[in-house]
Amino acid sequence: MPWRVMPADKLAGVRPDPYRVWLSEVMLQQTTVAAVTAYFNRFTARWPTVNDLASAADADVMAEWAGLGYYARARNLLKCARAVVADHDGAFPDTRDGLLILPGIGPYTAAAIASIAYNEPAVVVDGNVERVMSRLFDIHTPLPAAKPELTERAATLTPALRPGDHAQAVMDLGATICTPRNPACGICPLRDPCQARAAGTMTELPKKTPKKPKPIRHGIAYVARRADGAWLLETRPPKGLLGGMLGWPGSDWSDDPTPNPPFEGNWVTLNAEALHTFTHFHLRLRVMVAQAPDGLEGEWHGQVDGSDLPTVMRKVFDLVRED
Ligand code: ADE
Repeated sequence: MPWRVMPADKLAGVRPDPYRVWLSEVMLQQTTVAAVTAYFNRFTARWPTVNDLASAADADVMAEWAGLGYYARARNLLKCARAVVADHDGAFPDTRDGLLILPGIGPYTAAAIASIAYNEPAVVVDGNVERVMSRLFDIHTPLPAAKPELTERAATLTPALRPGDHAQAVMDLGATICTPRNPACGICPLRDPCQARAAGTMTELPKKTPKKPKPIRHGIAYVARRADGAWLLETRPPKGLLGGMLGWPGSDWSDDPTPNPPFEGNWVTLNAEALHTFTHFHLRLRVMVAQAPDGLEGEWHGQVDGSDLPTVMRKVFDLVRED
């Protein structure tokens, strides 16, 4: 993992760069190491320091984040970088409590940065840690109600020595051995003290309060192309779902969307819909295409390869290109 410092360097006294730790921890929220790695490498190559990121254009950062999801993270990333530069002389606060004040940094991220970058024995609890604790201590209280109890257990195990390595080791254990399904108990370094393994309950844990099923919403995306090949896109409003990201003009997303084409034209409906699942609903997007009239005002993009688009908008684009 490119944000980690190698053990030999660590022994020689090298500390992880708080900027890289912060960036990786924000990217890793709700996202796997495998998905994050290439994004992390591109971000740090383009913006090697928090000062570089703070002076980046919003649209460049949103485009570089495209495809990672949970776009509020990218908006807060910029806010946070600018706050670190404006209010902290470009140096991240070096305590959990100091970090918590920054935009987009919650209890998990503050604890992770404090422990990994600054060696503070802060208690780091993400989904992996919750799973490991629920099994190690055979805790059957369902999540999210179990969170305080699991955090307490994690606190009792957090060492004063190398707390960052400990936190990352528990997360790695959860990601690779103490997995949600088919945990590899046979090779687990915690198999002897694991109470769920002794009780045979490990695959039932952690218990979770059932979630409401996600509703299905519908919408229409309008893909217009000009005679010179340019595409009509919109920068979405800064707040709300996909805020600040590029997207196709569209209808509302609801049970029964109201058509809202960007111009009167010969709109043709594609045969296939774009399907995408967000945190709280499934979306089925009908795709309509038309040739745009000459001279139409709007956000015209000559070069679009999909990589600047959030995944749902990229799915629409792929359907149009396949057509
Ligand atoms: N998930 C979130 N942060 C992580 C880290 N630093 N190492 C491994 N997995 C993680």
